[in-house]
Amino acid sequence: MTSQPQRSPVDKFTFGLWTVGWQARDPFGDATRAPIDPVEIVTRLAELGAYGVTFHDDDLIPFGSDDKARAGHIARFKQALERTGMKVPMATTNLFTHPVFKDGAFTSNDREVRRFALRKVMRNLDLAAELGAQTYVFWGGREGSEYDVAKDVRVALDRFREGLDTLTNYCRERSYKIRFALEPKPNEPRGDILLPTIGHALAFIDTLEHSEMVGLNPEVGHEQMAGLNFVHGIAQALWHGKLFHIDLNGQRGIKYDQDLVFGHGDLASAFFLVDLLETSGYDGPRHFDYKPSRTEDLAGVWASAAANMRMYRLLRDRAAKFRQDPEVQAAMKDSKLAELGQPTLGKGESLADLLRDKSAYETFDADKVAQRGCGFVRLNQLAMEHLLGAR
Ligand code: GCO
Ligand code: MN
Ligand code: MN
Repeated sequence: MTSQPQRSPVDKFTFGLWTVGWQARDPFGDATRAPIDPVEIVTRLAELGAYGVTFHDDDLIPFGSDDKARAGHIARFKQALERTGMKVPMATTNLFTHPVFKDGAFTSNDREVRRFALRKVMRNLDLAAELGAQTYVFWGGREGSEYDVAKDVRVALDRFREGLDTLTNYCRERSYKIRFALEPKPNEPRGDILLPTIGHALAFIDTLEHSEMVGLNPEVGHEQMAGLNFVHGIAQALWHGKLFHIDLNGQRGIKYDQDLVFGHGDLASAFFLVDLLETSGYDGPRHFDYKPSRTEDLAGVWASAAANMRMYRLLRDRAAKFRQDPEVQAAMKDSKLAELGQPTLGKGESLADLLRDKSAYETFDADKVAQRGCGFVRLNQLAMEHLLGAR
């Protein structure tokens, strides 16, 4: 690989401590790698050209640490950030590893667990604000069920909303400049997870007390696990003004959550995703939430981290060339992409005007118009040739 690891803060490439730090334990096998000290992670990622790191409370401060140990972990981490110039644009809470969360956190049937979950989030929100994070992610991995009889979903959604309303109010009371980003996932670890897709989450957000403070952190693989089009999902999230953050990775079809390197799954989709992000005005972090495969040693871990950033840069370069190609521009014109931007009714046209327009219906020749080809295959072929570096 010929990557030239250049420190490039403009790229805003970020990684979770839990990504490169994953020890590769899976349901069938033990860890294949030793733990990595968060200070080492910050140092190595900075050397590779990342902009920042993100973390769950428990990635940095092992669950159950006393106050003194907690302060020590935070101090070491802060020193590493200062030394490297790495930022912390996002933080989140681990509400899934400890067995107490086996039936969920905000939506556990057990009220004591729900109260504990809120306090655990509040404590880490204080740290997130202190470290300057602007986004706080909620991935509800344990919010769900295996059996439809085990969870009253309508009531669970009441509790989910109550939890988020409580936490937005907590941020407002403390004047934290933090926005929340919900991360949908259809299943795994629960049989079925609440708010399984971008669309479910968007509808739910509308019901929240401070819905303006809550958006999305969609993950490539999570939509693709459900067979959905991630590019369409991101486009709709942007359209709603709700793309607050994004988790980039790779997934090969409808199966378990693979968390591959970005672009190592559906490459064509990754190309169109980068094209969309780069032309949409999205200026948030490009956050890689992937797992270095269980087969890799430590050198493989850092190589895979670099691969994520290189894939993004390569795709960005190819997408820009695609847009600049005069043949592509002509093909887009032939395919009437710009015409979709033209309102269907004329300026000031009334319903009566539309009803009076004979050319819109009475004399409209549907059979003739149906003969017009769309030219989409040619356009897509041009995109694939740019993706392959053939043009
Ligand atoms: C997954 C999820 C998690 C969350 C992360 C934030 O792969 O199922 O992406 O990695 O993003 O834990 O809570
Ligand atoms: Mn995932
Ligand atoms: Mn994620």
